[in-house]
Amino acid sequence: MKIVNIVGARPNFMKIAPLMKEMRKHAGIDAVLVHTGQHYDVSMAGQFFEDLQIPLPHVSLEVGSGSHAYQTGEVMKRLEPILERERPDVVVVVGDVNSTLAAALTAAKLQIRVAHIEAGLRSFDRSMPEEINRLLTDAISDYLFVTEESGKRNLLAEGVSEDKIFFVGNVMIDSLETSRRLWARSTILEHLGLKKGQYGVVTLHRPSNVDDLPILKGLIRALADVARQHPIVFPVHPRTRTSLETIPEFRSVMYFGDGPTPSRGIHCMDPIGYLDFMSLVANARLVLTDSGGIQEETTVLGIPCLTLRENTERPVTVTHGTNRIVGSSPARITAEVAQVLKAPLPAPIPPPLWDGQASQRIVAVLLEHIRDRNRSPRSATHGAPNLPRP
Ligand code: UD1
Repeated sequence: MKIVNIVGARPNFMKIAPLMKEMRKHAGIDAVLVHTGQHYDVSMAGQFFEDLQIPLPHVSLEVGSGSHAYQTGEVMKRLEPILERERPDVVVVVGDVNSTLAAALTAAKLQIRVAHIEAGLRSFDRSMPEEINRLLTDAISDYLFVTEESGKRNLLAEGVSEDKIFFVGNVMIDSLETSRRLWARSTILEHLGLKKGQYGVVTLHRPSNVDDLPILKGLIRALADVARQHPIVFPVHPRTRTSLETIPEFRSVMYFGDGPTPSRGIHCMDPIGYLDFMSLVANARLVLTDSGGIQEETTVLGIPCLTLRENTERPVTVTHGTNRIVGSSPARITAEVAQVLKAPLPAPIPPPLWDGQASQRIVAVLLEHIRDRNRSPRSATHGAPNLPRP
C-alpha cells in the first residue's frame, strides 16, 4: 500500500510526524513524504524536521511564499506529476493551510483517495482563509479523521456520510506526548533567564490581527500593559515582524534580541523550534495566542490560554480545556489576564481520545479500508474503477 503524505507549513509538521512514524512500523506501507515548501526558513520548517525526527522529504516542491492563488496553484501544478508517477492508494493531508487544500484537490481530480486529518473543525468565519481550506478539503475527502465531537457534528450537518467520518483523537497531542522527554530537557528557560510560572508567552500571526495595524497596535498596547507585571516572551512570525517594523512607537516596550528576557516588557525573538517552544509553553503562567494548535497544546498541558480571536474552530478547548476566547479589545484582554493571574493553575483534563494514540487509530483505519477496497473491484463511494497499481 502506498501512501503519499503532504506537509507544507509549520503547523503541519507536528501532525505528520507521528503519522509517518506509525506508517513506518508497518512493512506493508510505503510511506512517501512530500514537502510543498510553503514554509521554508529553518526556523519555520527545518528545525521542526529535526526536533520531531521527521524523515527528510522524498520530494520537495519548493513552492515558497505568494498569494493564496499562487501558492495553491503552484502546489497543484508541481504535485500533479508526482501523484501521477507514484499512483498512491491514498493521499494524506493535515490541517487547514493552503498546501492542504491544494494537495487534496490535486489528488481528488486524479481520482486518488484523500484522507484529511483534523477534519470537520469550523470557525464559521469565512473571512479566515483556513475556513475556506477546511470546508473545501472536507468536501472532497474520502476519509475524514476528526479530533473532537464538534468535527463529527459539523460534517454530518454538511451532509457528509457517517461512514466516512472517524473520531480518532488528535495527532498533535501524539507529538506532544512522544517528545515530552525531549522538550522537558530543553534549556530555553535558563537561556532566557526565565522562572517557571513567572512569565507569559505570546504568539500572533492571523492576518486579521497582524495585517490590520490598528488592531495590532491595540494588541501590543494590551500586551505592554500585561508585561508591566510579568515578562512576556514573543517568538515573532515573519508575517507579524513585517507589520511590527512599521509601528516604531512600541520600540520602548518591545525588546528584540537573543539574550536573557528583561524582568518587564515584551521580549521579541525569531520563531523558535518545537521542543523549545513546548518547554516555554509548559512552564508559562499563561499564553496569549491566535494560533489554533496552541489552544490544543495548552489544554493538555493545563496552561491558561487566552485566544486573541472572536471565535475558535476547536470548541473542546473551551468546554474541556483551559481556553478562553477573548477577542482583540485591549480592555477585555487586560481584564481577562487579571482574572487568570488571580486564579490557581487549572488541572489538565485532556479531551476524549487526546491520549497520544491518534496516529495508531488513523493508520489502522487506512489499512483496513484500503485493503478492503483493493480487494473489491469498484470503489464503494465514487463508483469509479480502482486506479492502476504501480
Ligand atoms: C500559514 C497558514 C496558516 C498557519 C500559518 C502558521 C495558509 C492560508 N495560512 O500562514 O493557516 O496558521 O501558516 O505559520 O496556509 N515567510 C517567511 N518564511 C517562511 C514562510 C513564510 O519569511 O518560511 C513569510 C513570507 O513573507 C510570507 C509570510 O511569511 O509572505 C506568510 O507566509 P504564508 O505561508 O503565506 O502564510 P502564514 O501567515 O505563515
